[in-house]
Amino acid sequence: MRNISLDNITTAVLDTMKDASDARFREVIGSLVTHLHAFAREVHLTHAEWNAGIDFLWRAGRISDDKRNEFVLTSDVLGLSSMVDLLNGSAHGTESSVLGPFYVEGAPLLPVGASIVGDNGGERVLLRGRVLGADGAPLAGALLDFWQTDADGQYSQALPDKPEFNLRCRMRTDAQGRYALQTVKPRYYSVPYDGPVGDLLRAGARHALRPSHFHVLVTAPGHRPLVTELFAEDDPYIDADAVFGVRSTLVLHFERRDDAAAAAPYEVEAPFYDVAFDFRLGAAEASA
Ligand code: BEZ
Ligand code: FE
Repeated sequence: MRNISLDNITTAVLDTMKDASDARFREVIGSLVTHLHAFAREVHLTHAEWNAGIDFLWRAGRISDDKRNEFVLTSDVLGLSSMVDLLNGSAHGTESSVLGPFYVEGAPLLPVGASIVGDNGGERVLLRGRVLGADGAPLAGALLDFWQTDADGQYSQALPDKPEFNLRCRMRTDAQGRYALQTVKPRYYSVPYDGPVGDLLRAGARHALRPSHFHVLVTAPGHRPLVTELFAEDDPYIDADAVFGVRSTLVLHFERRDDAAAAAPYEVEAPFYDVAFDFRLGAAEASA
């Protein structure tokens, strides 16, 4: 085409892909091009602004490595990660939420009722409940993988003096589908703020904080894996998550129990917060 103009450039780009054999590719990338062009047109994007965007992507690439992915973080703070979660959630299962960058494979497998407190300070929590299938029946042998910050908002990666799997574990549900974990109350913390995403947040007069949460990955044969988070309802940032991961069904009441009698059945130390949550897994799709 030699007569490219504002009137035909979007069609011209779409036409170049019309023979792509993958119909979903044509739909997704075609729509992306259409929306990108419409966006540039709507805001009348200048060269300086386009350059700033390219520079952002360039810096995101430079700061990313096998431990840090600034592109995922960009998606997180722009709400795209949560948009994809919300679009693809299981109709009858527990709502999903962002995985985040701090998951580590291979945490120790501990028995139901175990403690991951170690030498961490902070308020004690008993997190307990069941894993249920799509029909509501308890699932024995479901695998839960937990990770969280300590009471100062630090993941194990930032604590070289602590054990590698500090405040992390895996656990299989018992014959009644139950799990129970003794831990400490996590604290709100900041997503990485020293790269281009930090600049983006500052330019938008936004903070980088996430309300305190437990991360949980739940798997069971024949069911959809679930990646989710459980939040504390009294967290000061519960309504201001920098990555839009909070869902009202995942906001939990931390019931404080002060006496030894309340603690005895669970063999925890009082005082502690009693937090109950049942996970519900959707059925695996037929093709999965
Ligand atoms: C997290 O919860 O660990 C997290 C999620 C998204 C971005 C950064 C951190
Ligand atoms: Fe987190």
